[in-house]
Formats: sequence, C-alpha cells, structure tokens
Amino acid sequence: MRAIQIQKFGGFDVLEYVENAPIPNIQKNQVLIKVHAAGVNPLDWRIRNGELKLLLGADFPMILGNDVSGTVVSVGRQVSRFKQGDEVFCLLDAHPQPSWTGFAKSGGYAEFAITREDTLALKPKNLTHIQAASVPLAALTAYQVLTQKAGLKRGQKILINGASGGVGLFAVQIAIALGAEVTAVCSSRHQELLKSLGVSHLVNYQQQDFKTLNQHFDVIYDVVANSSWWSCRHLLTKKGIFISNVMSLDSLLATQLYPITKRLGLSQQYTFAWVKSSAKDLAVISEWIAANKIKTFVEKSFPLNEAKAAHQASESGRVQGKLVLQIIKE
Ligand SMILES: NC(=O)c1ccc[n+]([C@@H]2O[C@H](COP(=O)([O-])OP(=O)(O)OC[C@H]3O[C@@H](n4cnc5c(N)ncnc54)[C@H](OP(=O)(O)O)[C@@H]3O)[C@@H](O)[C@H]2O)c1
Repeated sequence: MRAIQIQKFGGFDVLEYVENAPIPNIQKNQVLIKVHAAGVNPLDWRIRNGELKLLLGADFPMILGNDVSGTVVSVGRQVSRFKQGDEVFCLLDAHPQPSWTGFAKSGGYAEFAITREDTLALKPKNLTHIQAASVPLAALTAYQVLTQKAGLKRGQKILINGASGGVGLFAVQIAIALGAEVTAVCSSRHQELLKSLGVSHLVNYQQQDFKTLNQHFDVIYDVVANSSWWSCRHLLTKKGIFISNVMSLDSLLATQLYPITKRLGLSQQYTFAWVKSSAKDLAVISEWIAANKIKTFVEKSFPLNEAKAAHQASESGRVQGKLVLQIIKE
C-alpha cells in the first residue's frame, strides 16, 4: 500500500513516500480501515523527531499519523458494532487493550490502518472525509480536558491560550457549548473567526500579555503551553485550575509540589492532560458536529506524497485550525 513512513527519527527529510508498505493484519477486536484522509497534528512531528521515543517506542519502519476518516474493509471476529462499508473516523489506537500512551501502531498516513473497535465512531454525515479526519485528536483533547479534567460548568469563566489552532478552536466551541464564558488569546489574524464563534473576550497576544489581565478565571487552558501554573496562579479563582497539554519541567514541578503549595494556601490546581482514544467521547463530539454545535476548520489539505509540506506547515505553529493529508480523492 502507499504510505508515508520513517526509518529513523529526524527532520522533514526522514519522511519517505513508499508504494509497497504491507497492509496491516487485524486482530480479533480490531477493524481494518481504508483511509480516505488523515489528520496532521503537532504530535506527528514530535514523534517523527524522536521527542516521544521513550514513551511510544522506536519500532521502524514506522507509519506516522494518528487520526483518520475512511471506510471499514474488514472486522475481527469479536467486532460487533461495525461492518464492511461503514464510514468511520477515529483517533487510531491498535494496542490490544486501551493504554494511557494509546496511539497508532500502524499509522494513518497510509491507504489502510487498523484500530480497536472501541476507538471508532461513525463519520458525521455532514462532514467530508477530509473534514472528519481533522476532528478526532484535536476535538478529543479539548473535550476530555474541559469535561473530564476541568469539569467546566455553565457560567464559569475560562481563558484559552492558543485559541486559533487545532485544539484551541475545538476548545473554544466546546466551552461555549457547555455554557462557559470564554476569553480567547490569539493574534490579530484570527480575531474575526473567534468573534464569529461567540467568544466573550479576546486578548491579542501581539499587543497584550494575558498574564497582565486584572480578572479571575475558573479554568486556564494553556493550549500552546507558553505560560505556567506558577506565572498564572494570580489569574485563577481560589479553586481554579490550570491545564496544559504539554509536559514541561515547570509543570512537572507544579504537579509534584502541589500537596505542599496547597498546604501553604495556594489551592489552585495544575493538571497535565494526555488525550485518549475513546469511541464514547468521539460519539458525543460526532453528535455535536451533526447538530452544528461545533465545526471543524481545515486550513489546507495535501496529497499523501506531500507529507513533508504538511509537516513544515504544522511545525511553523501558525496554522488556523487543522491540516489534513488526502489519501483518496472524494
Ligand atoms: N498531551 C496531549 O494529549 C496533546 C494533544 C493535542 C495537542 N497537544 C499539544 O498541544 C499543542 C497545541 O496543539 P494544536 O494542535 O492546537 O497546535 P497548532 O494547531 O499547531 O497551534 C497553532 C496555533 O497556535 C497559535 N499560536 C502560536 N503562538 C501563539 C502564542 N504565543 N499565543 C497564542 N497562540 C499562539 C497560532 O496562531 P498565530 O497565527 O497567532 O501564530 C496557531 O493558530 C501542541 O504542542 C501539541 O503537541 C498535546
């Protein structure tokens, strides 16, 4: 099959377009998907350059890509919810059991990929495969952070730093759908879009450091991870929570020192969040998309053999919404 694989960790040049990668074999609780489109995420180039090798291993040749939209080709004997021909999307996880590291074993930048049944949901009918492939990783991250880590409630105030990227645009829309009052931090070129989504307040990071705001938030979600619990704690309510998706030394210290800082009267919490593949969570996201409560924004799609250009664009850190690789023309 056609695929983008790597034989070693490194820069853009390690991405190889091949036409003879083997089609992966399914196990009893897995589904083989003909991939129409695959999402491109910062996670992919973090895996490519070896940043996550201690966590996710170094099993070469490695096919990158974690979220896909496509058609079911065949199912393992224990699979009961899906059948050949179903149009599905998911954050791939082909580990035999759910695991906290999760993620693809045979990745999505390929004509075929495998995943466990309990990671899959039916593709929302109102999305193309390109749009659907842009959803799982970013939307699941935002949904799990806001509902499971932050327990965000109607009327609460949340600040989202990095509101214009893949995760940020979902976080903004999910927070609004949950009834929260959203302050979004982004640059001038994304302000119109964020206003149109219904954010209550905008902070242009090119003109103002959000840390100088004279306000309190129940939740600060630092999607771009360029601040810290320590530097933001004055912006949090007494029981406020600071959440980041990127583990840093500063955030590691904040987690380790939390029992001590809490006793010293600093009750605001720090939490690190790591996305998990979940059919149940994806089904909720899918319903919200079908009901037009949330939308996906695809800045650009690339053919599979232009994965290098897609990685260059993602690594620039300037994307509005999402990037996608198109594997089959619709
Ligand atoms: N732990 C997990 O499970 C998990 C899951 C998903 C993502 N992540 C991590 O979370 C991070 C964000 O992911 P993503 O997919 O949202 O990234 P992304 O789509 O690449 O984010 C790009 C966006 O960030 C904005 N941005 C850049 N610098 C900014 C700044 N100083 N202040 C505010 N906004 C800024 C950019 O807007 P401009 O045009 O203004 O530059 C752009 O719109 C990545 O590091 C990713 O690896 C972790």
